[in-house]
Amino acid sequence: MNASEPYSAAVGAGITIRNLTVTYHTDRGIFPALKDVSLDIRPQTITGFIGESGSGKTTLAMAIMNAIRTPGLIASGSIYTDGVGDVLKLQGESLRRVHGQHFGFVFQASSNSLNPLKRIGAQLLDLGRSHGIKDPRILLKEARALAERMGMDGDRVLTSYQHELSGGMRQRAGIIFALVLRAKVVILDEPTTALDMLSQQAVLEIIRQIHEERGLTSIIITHDMGVMAEIVQRVVVLYAGRVVEEGPTQDLLQRPRHPYTKGLIDAIPRITGDLAEAKPLAGSPPDLATVPTQGCVFRDRCSLRRPVCDLVEPLAQPAHGDGLVTCHGVNAHD
Ligand SMILES: Nc1ncnc2c1ncn2[C@@H]1O[C@H](COP(=O)(O)OP(=O)(O)OP(=O)(O)O)[C@@H](O)[C@H]1O
Ligand SMILES: [Mg+2]
Repeated sequence: MNASEPYSAAVGAGITIRNLTVTYHTDRGIFPALKDVSLDIRPQTITGFIGESGSGKTTLAMAIMNAIRTPGLIASGSIYTDGVGDVLKLQGESLRRVHGQHFGFVFQASSNSLNPLKRIGAQLLDLGRSHGIKDPRILLKEARALAERMGMDGDRVLTSYQHELSGGMRQRAGIIFALVLRAKVVILDEPTTALDMLSQQAVLEIIRQIHEERGLTSIIITHDMGVMAEIVQRVVVLYAGRVVEEGPTQDLLQRPRHPYTKGLIDAIPRITGDLAEAKPLAGSPPDLATVPTQGCVFRDRCSLRRPVCDLVEPLAQPAHGDGLVTCHGVNAHD
């Protein structure tokens, strides 16, 4: 589509994250929102990030694109993706090109990221121009087709200002921006929160179809465990900026190894199907200001707590075949 594409980005590029630490520098101190995260995002799979509010899902998604802004700072680590190299080494023009062409993304609360003073079509043309797209008609045709697949009138969306669209339409417009440049990796941070349940399912199904048609690598962040169970192939569980468990969705949901993952699943009635059986997760969500600096960060809420948990931060060990779990209390080798 783009003659001047600078990267021979492999279809469904994988992402290899090593020892990633991201800190936020605030008046209250310096807090690690991600601490020493090592993780493989597999090519051509849909990966879901889950965890309570504040666990670091958005920070991880932004860091993967080297898009952390002040007061945040990527303190250390590397993020290798096929066809690009270490994203954290890019800056300026080469980083800008990767945003959009290699990584397509929908920010959390994406309805706020559209420009209120420009029609959607004009904003798409700006995007195309800034990425060197030679023929804007192809871009608009693609955007129209995506809008229509998501149940909207393509021409109406392109000729509208954002205030002329409903919240759900704006959110779908955000998804069009993420897909229109045919990026190889698509990152969607709570892409359907403004939609009702039926439209949400329809839009997610379309995202799943496009993922398959294009052989994408996709990352979806959602609080909806039902969404996870339905469309996500692998799940990454985050707690206080640590990856505590990762694995194939079915195995992880049916046989969670980390007590935090178990708690998350037990707290969601849609998984068990029985509202009466949903048990709220004990204790409070992590607060970076009070999270222990030594030992396991989950120990205060943990049913498997042992003396070692107070002293030593657990290391990742293999679980779920090719996944991992980070806990002293589980015998994870299976
Ligand atoms: N701009 C910022 N300044 C200071 N701290 C921040 C900033 N952005 C995020 N944080 C902190 O970093 C941690 C991780 O935040 P993040 O937004 O990544 O969480 P999240 O898992 O996406 O949560 P949510 O489900 O609410 O979207 C939180 O403790 C949050 O308070
Ligand atoms: Mg978030």
